[in-house]
Amino acid sequence: MAMYDVPYHGEKDLSEYNFLVTGGAGFIGSNLVEYLLKYGAGKVRVLDNFATGHKKNLAAFLNNPNFELIEGDIRDLETCKNAARGIDYILHQAALGSVPRSINDPITSNEVNVSGFLNMLVAARDENVKRMVYAASSSTYGDSKDLPKVEDKIGKPLSPYAVTKYVNELYADVFSRLYNLEIIGLRYFNVFGQRQDPNGAYAAVIPKFVSQLLDYQSPVVNGDGEYSRDFTYIDNVVQMNIKAALSENVEAVGQVYNVAYGQRTTLNQLLESLKNNLSDYDPKIKNVEIIYGPLRNGDIPHSLASVDKAISLLDYQPRYSIENGLKEAVSYYVSTKDIKSEISNF
Ligand SMILES: NC(=O)c1ccc[n+]([C@@H]2O[C@H](COP(=O)([O-])OP(=O)(O)OC[C@H]3O[C@@H](n4cnc5c(N)ncnc54)[C@H](O)[C@@H]3O)[C@@H](O)[C@H]2O)c1
Repeated sequence: MAMYDVPYHGEKDLSEYNFLVTGGAGFIGSNLVEYLLKYGAGKVRVLDNFATGHKKNLAAFLNNPNFELIEGDIRDLETCKNAARGIDYILHQAALGSVPRSINDPITSNEVNVSGFLNMLVAARDENVKRMVYAASSSTYGDSKDLPKVEDKIGKPLSPYAVTKYVNELYADVFSRLYNLEIIGLRYFNVFGQRQDPNGAYAAVIPKFVSQLLDYQSPVVNGDGEYSRDFTYIDNVVQMNIKAALSENVEAVGQVYNVAYGQRTTLNQLLESLKNNLSDYDPKIKNVEIIYGPLRNGDIPHSLASVDKAISLLDYQPRYSIENGLKEAVSYYVSTKDIKSEISNF
C-alpha cells in the first residue's frame, strides 16, 4: 500500500527544514514522520515516552540518517527544550487521548495534556522555533448542538480530556500574543488509518471494530448506533499538518482549524461499510452480529465539521472520503493480521 504519493508542500524543499514530531511513535505522529522522511525533510526528530505509542511504529524509520529518536517525557521541561533545539517546525501530537481514560484518571491526562503542552510552548519560545502546529480536538465543541461545527462557536466541555484540549487552545492564543510565537491548532475529528492501535481499553472505534470483526467477535455499540461522527482518514490529517506548518499566509497563523472530511456517518453505517469491506477478504464476516449496549458518559450524539476555514486559509483539499479511507484502513489491518498469524505459526 503506497501512502503519501501526493505531496502537500508545494514548491518547498523539505531538506531545508528540521521537524520535531512529539508523540511520533503514536498513530498520527508516525504518519507525519513517514511523510516527512519520504520527502527528504532535513531532520525528523521524535520525542515520545511510549506511553501509548509503540517502537514498532518507528521500525521502518530507524535506519534513515535523517531520523532521530529521543525517548523522553513532555512533562519534563528540559527534555522538551533539548528536543526543540535546532528545530524549525514542531508538530505536537504527544498527549493522552481518549475521553474515558480522562474520566478514569483526570490527573494524569491533565499533567500530560496541559503541563506537557505548556512545556512544549515554552520550549518552542526559548529555542526560537519558527512555528508550532498542535493537535487540538473536536471534543472542544462539547455540548454545542450546532451542526456543522464552526471554529468560533464552541460549547461547554463534557470531559476532562475536552478541558485539557481547550486549555491548549487558550495557552496557544496567549503565547502567540505575548511572545509572537507562530502557532496553529488543528481540531482533529475521529481520525483513522494505518497504525492506529486496535488494542487496549481505550482503543478508538474503527480499529477496535475491525480487529473484532476479523476475529468473528461481535462489536459492541454504545447506544442504538445512530450517533454519528465525521470520521477522517489519516492522509487528510497529514495534509493539514504540512500545510499548517509551511503556509505563508499570515492570516492563517494564530488560528485553530477543524480537520475533518465534512461528512457525517452513523456507527450503524460505519459497521455496515466495515463488514462489506472485510467480507471481500473473508465472506464469513458478513454474518457477525452487532451487540447494542448502554450509552457512554461524556459522548456527544453527533459531530460534523465545517472545513470551510481550512479550505479558504490553508488551501485544504481533502483527498479521501470516509469510504475511500476505510478501504485503505481495512486493507492495512488485513495485511498486518496476515503478518501476525504468519509470525505466530513459527
Ligand atoms: N486519533 C484521533 O481521532 C484524535 C482526535 C482528536 C485529537 N487527537 C489528538 O491527536 C494526538 C495524537 O493522537 P493519536 O491518535 O496519534 O494517539 P496515540 O496515542 O497513538 O499517540 C500519542 C503519542 O503520544 C505519546 N505520549 C503520550 N504521553 C506522552 C508523554 N508524557 N511524553 C511523550 N510522549 C507521550 C504516546 O506514547 C503516543 O506515541 C493527541 O494529541 C490526541 O489527543 C487525536
